[in-house]
Amino acid sequence: MSDWYKKMSFYQIWIRSFADGNGDGIGDLQGVYEKLEYIKKLGVDGIWFSPIYPSPNADFGYDISDYRNIHPDYGTLEDFKRVLEKAHKLGLKVIMDLVVNHTSDEHPWFLESRKGKDNPYSDYYIWRDNPNNWDSLFEGNAWEYDEVRGQYYLHIFAKKQPDLNMDNPAVRAEVEGILKFWLDMGVDGFREDVINFISKKEGLPNGVPFLPAVNGMMHYKDGPHIYEYNQQFRKVCQQYDCFQIGEGPMTTLQSALKYLTGPGKSLDMMFSFDHMMADCMYTEYMHRPFSLIKFKKAISKWQYGLAGRAWNALYLENHDHPRIISRYGSEIFWKESGKMLAAAYLFLQGTPFVYQGQEIGMTNIRLGRIEHYEDVSTKTNFHRYHVKDSMARRLARIHVSSRDSARTPMQWSGKPHAGFTAPDATPWFYVNRNYTTCNVEDEEKDPYSILRFYRRCLSLRRHSKTLIFGEYREHFPKDPLLFVYERVMQTGKGSTRYLVICSFSAAPALLRCPKHLQGRRGQLVLDNYERAEMKPFATTIEEGEMLRPYEVRVYRFKV
Ligand code: GLC
Ligand code: CA
Repeated sequence: MSDWYKKMSFYQIWIRSFADGNGDGIGDLQGVYEKLEYIKKLGVDGIWFSPIYPSPNADFGYDISDYRNIHPDYGTLEDFKRVLEKAHKLGLKVIMDLVVNHTSDEHPWFLESRKGKDNPYSDYYIWRDNPNNWDSLFEGNAWEYDEVRGQYYLHIFAKKQPDLNMDNPAVRAEVEGILKFWLDMGVDGFREDVINFISKKEGLPNGVPFLPAVNGMMHYKDGPHIYEYNQQFRKVCQQYDCFQIGEGPMTTLQSALKYLTGPGKSLDMMFSFDHMMADCMYTEYMHRPFSLIKFKKAISKWQYGLAGRAWNALYLENHDHPRIISRYGSEIFWKESGKMLAAAYLFLQGTPFVYQGQEIGMTNIRLGRIEHYEDVSTKTNFHRYHVKDSMARRLARIHVSSRDSARTPMQWSGKPHAGFTAPDATPWFYVNRNYTTCNVEDEEKDPYSILRFYRRCLSLRRHSKTLIFGEYREHFPKDPLLFVYERVMQTGKGSTRYLVICSFSAAPALLRCPKHLQGRRGQLVLDNYERAEMKPFATTIEEGEMLRPYEVRVYRFKV
């Protein structure tokens, strides 16, 4: 297995909101095809497609009704092959989302399974006469009664997402078939959805309720056969030059290392969630103010924990999380904080993922009524938690936590509907009103835009061995305003060092430089304020210097 993925960076497409090629208001493969040059120009090396398969969209693609086809809203298999071919010509790898913890309840397997206990599909899902006490993450308790079969089925997510019974060898063989289908077509790997949930504890014992929505997780996360099942899938992938990244909600460093290292290795990388817990996690009931110290602690835990043993997946945004400027930065210091947040994670050790719109600094949408929201978990949470609060407060919580906050149409220009669809079409979802200033076309023209900054960061990383492979070291972990880290590469006699200083403060903050670099001459290679001139010569970091709001500086030292 090659490790080309280490040098790469990825762009995530959530297709429904990316670009509409045929003017029906819904993003599609034609739209993607037309934007491939844009993606290439960003400086990434690959694309991860959130699900583009046929789906009733109870969870926008994560409820799949056919694993070997394309949703008619997005195009056809032929359209996909054209995108794949063009992407490959441009030097972009393409990875697909593999969602096999569950299917849609409209998948033919489920339609068969519910018919009775004695057909070839009856054991494809998890059926019981008596449900246990588990919660689902999206819609109340985890069991739904099916009139036809006269039994309950398990759904860890929405009701329309019945969990597959991975203990059934026939189901695992189906997964192998799906992997082969896409690999034979030429895709380069998979992002494997909630892959640490696919093996459930025998007998499905009751959980110990301590928090709503997660009761039972102790019995379905990293279940008894999880590594074995993943190794089985790995074997198929190893027949190809492909790479696998697993999504691991609530995964711990210890269990991640079991997926990522040793003879039983079954994944190349994992998306961990620790750093996303620095404020909220999906749901508004767990929301709390952002803590930089917590954030840094989580980042460093994974950076140090995987160093020399495995490889990190770096991300701050995706289709499940609200926008980072609205979360960790400031919409007032939009440009500054947008750039600072880019540098805060793109120079860590690992493979960076950029979510569509992140690179132009898109922010959370705030809709005026709950009826305007589409996401199933947003609706459940709204009607379940804090129901006695005022409507304004309840909506404010939805604004900061909803997955829909980051699922609005991509802002391509200042034209109607942000150029996402035809002027006379109706986009499938609301466009954020800030599209007149935050959009690709205008940011292309502005040398100091967030978009240009992302390109610079990705290019700096791509051309530096130190930024790709260098050792990570954090400084001042207890500082509540600054995130300061170094990447270090030993060279012959000395070392190359990058020092990244990020201010998460809306007020001026005292710049801090680690002792061993004080008084040393370093080159300022990147910063986020529009300086009249960048000093071409090396300077020392002055004691007592102040950082402006959300300022970031990246220095290179040879010492
Ligand atoms: C993952 C996906 C999320 C989806 C869930 C269930 O967390 O990223 O969007 O809702 O799995 O498939
Ligand atoms: Ca369309």
